[in-house]
Amino acid sequence: MFAHAPVRYATHTVFEKIDQLDKEADAYLDAVNSEDDLEQFRIKYLGSKGAIKALMAMMKGVPKDQKPAFGQGANRLRQRLQEAFEAKKASLGGVDTQAPRPQIDMTEPGLPPRLGREHVITQTVNDLVEVFGRMGFDVETGPEVEDEYHNFIALNIPPEHPARDPRENFYLTDPSAKNPHLLRSQTSTIQIRVMEQTPPPIRVVAMGRVYRPDEHDATHYSMFHQVEGLYVDRDVSMVDLKTTLIQFAHAYFGAQAEVRLVPSYFPFTEPSAELYIKMQIKERWEWLEIGGCGMVDPNVFEAVGYDPQRWTGFAFGLGIERLAMRKHGISDIRWLFENDLRFLRQF
Ligand code: DAH
Repeated sequence: MFAHAPVRYATHTVFEKIDQLDKEADAYLDAVNSEDDLEQFRIKYLGSKGAIKALMAMMKGVPKDQKPAFGQGANRLRQRLQEAFEAKKASLGGVDTQAPRPQIDMTEPGLPPRLGREHVITQTVNDLVEVFGRMGFDVETGPEVEDEYHNFIALNIPPEHPARDPRENFYLTDPSAKNPHLLRSQTSTIQIRVMEQTPPPIRVVAMGRVYRPDEHDATHYSMFHQVEGLYVDRDVSMVDLKTTLIQFAHAYFGAQAEVRLVPSYFPFTEPSAELYIKMQIKERWEWLEIGGCGMVDPNVFEAVGYDPQRWTGFAFGLGIERLAMRKHGISDIRWLFENDLRFLRQF
């Protein structure tokens, strides 16, 4: 029961203690001539387990009428040692925390906060949504992890087609197993998913990432973006396809852009064509290949349960990086994905 009774100090001993500490600390500090010594001094006297702390703790045992005098004495000592410490620190070449600091110059222009912006690919996607939206196309999406059925089989791509080579794709499961998974290599997969879900007529665009194990160079990257278009209705013809693409080219590249369809082959369209757009690049006008297109192959309609006798349609697939690079004069696709702000801030 006596455990908490305060220790009583004879008054003279505690006041002597202050004097003693004062002299001792002074002598110690006089001998300090390195930053390490100074740090030792700080720990010993001013630290959280130092002598001043211990001195303050003695307050409990000081008779009540002496407490104020003792407190003042201890505080004065603490302050004096702190100042002596700062002075020593400054004389040793440390930073003088007491020195007057530079005043804030209120007339100086401020640093404006830097605004973020959308990535140039996101901007391009938004432009495409807008342009095709005005032509009446809805926007659809689909999964990036696909199966062989949606990426190839339903699109009429036969097993021996080079696009199905496991070395040309990012397979996620054993390619020889039944309906293996892979990262989609084209957004044409979304054509199938939309038609599986929705009866005709259909007018959609779908934008997204696609993946192919290409070596990175100025025009190739293992991930890029495509915009897929699909239009299904009665009596759709190549004229509708070309008209749509011309309207797109004018809206996106300007009224002087021209469109040329060059016969080609894709398993999911018949006939098929490559899309070239004539656009101005610096001073010159050039024909550039932007993607593929064609009339939806009857086999594709059959795969999704549409009657190919009743329904006709066109489809197209364009490279979004190509569009963005041509539009903004970007000559290396890798810049788009290096996330160097000095590059990205230009758009
Ligand atoms: N999927 C094709 C590719 O990635 C592009 C393409 C061609 C899409 C013709 C289409 C199309 O919809 O009709 O190379």
